[in-house]
Amino acid sequence: MKEKVNEIKRQFDKDVLGVTDAKTLNDIRVKYLGKQGMVTELSKMMKEVSSAQKKEFGMLVNEVRCHVTNALEEKKEALEKEALDKELASEKIDITLPATKIPQGSANILERMIEEIEQVCMSMGYDVVDGPEIEEDHYNFELLNIPKNHPARDAQDTFYVEGDRLLLRSQTSPVQARVMLANKGEKPIRMICPGKTYRRDDDDATHSHQFMQIEGLLVDKDISLSDLKGTFDVIAKKLFGDDIKTRFRPSYYPFTEPSVETDISCFNCHGKGCNICKNTGWITVSGAGMVNPKVLEDCGYDPKVWSGFAFGFGAERLAMLKYGINDIRTFYNTDLRELKNFDRKEGE
Ligand code: DAH
Repeated sequence: MKEKVNEIKRQFDKDVLGVTDAKTLNDIRVKYLGKQGMVTELSKMMKEVSSAQKKEFGMLVNEVRCHVTNALEEKKEALEKEALDKELASEKIDITLPATKIPQGSANILERMIEEIEQVCMSMGYDVVDGPEIEEDHYNFELLNIPKNHPARDAQDTFYVEGDRLLLRSQTSPVQARVMLANKGEKPIRMICPGKTYRRDDDDATHSHQFMQIEGLLVDKDISLSDLKGTFDVIAKKLFGDDIKTRFRPSYYPFTEPSVETDISCFNCHGKGCNICKNTGWITVSGAGMVNPKVLEDCGYDPKVWSGFAFGFGAERLAMLKYGINDIRTFYNTDLRELKNFDRKEGE
């Protein structure tokens, strides 16, 4: 009897030794501990053992059952560990391999130019506002003192959308009229409006049928041309450097009186003369002036109480100057090599 028990134990040890997978291990468990398993059968034999030997036989069977149970458990753990180690090894990451490069996007240079102006103006308390691109002739021209047949209309060859009433705005100046009317002649105004504008211009290196302007308007009490000069000075220095000088030249716009062209000293040659400033030492960057009293009045502001100034930048022109770009169409093409070039220029 004792021999039989030991034989089962030996056989089990042999069986378990070479097991390499969970399925075989389970088969072995069934073979020894299942309902008709060999160890289970041993227990059933208790009935046949004489009472004198029962104790010893019981102990033997128990011992072998413990041995089988523990060995199965140990083997199970070992197999699991082995599987995990294998998995970990196969998933090992080689951190010395070069990483996949994810190309980084960036804002278009024109957008960044506009953001720069927005930042400067916001730091002086200006709001950034929006206006419609499909505009009424009334706002785009009439309220800005450009009635029908006014020669100033010729300079802005306009896309009409519907008869002669609706058009694609040819300038951002109509937003001045909209903001003044919205404030009902009661409140001071400080606003800028960057936005798209449209003209039937021939597309060439410096003209595009669609371009961006940045309009500025300040209305308050006791505002004079020197306030405009001071404001322009701050903007020019922030955009082009602290050593930049500014000057005004007389000009004409129907909605400002007096009107000026604003110049900055050439940031490239510092006045010596180069091809950027066409050897004049100066570069024109915007139109500006004191808001015409007629415009103030038509837009609901009493010109005896209120005065103001306005300015209008061409965003592409500024960016072209600042980054040495000579074709306006570069901003609107989708050639990544060109756009990446801008990133480099900005990093200089
Ligand atoms: N709207 C003008 C243009 O497109 C630019 C301009 C000039 C805007 C003088 C202004 C200004 O606000 O005061 O040519």
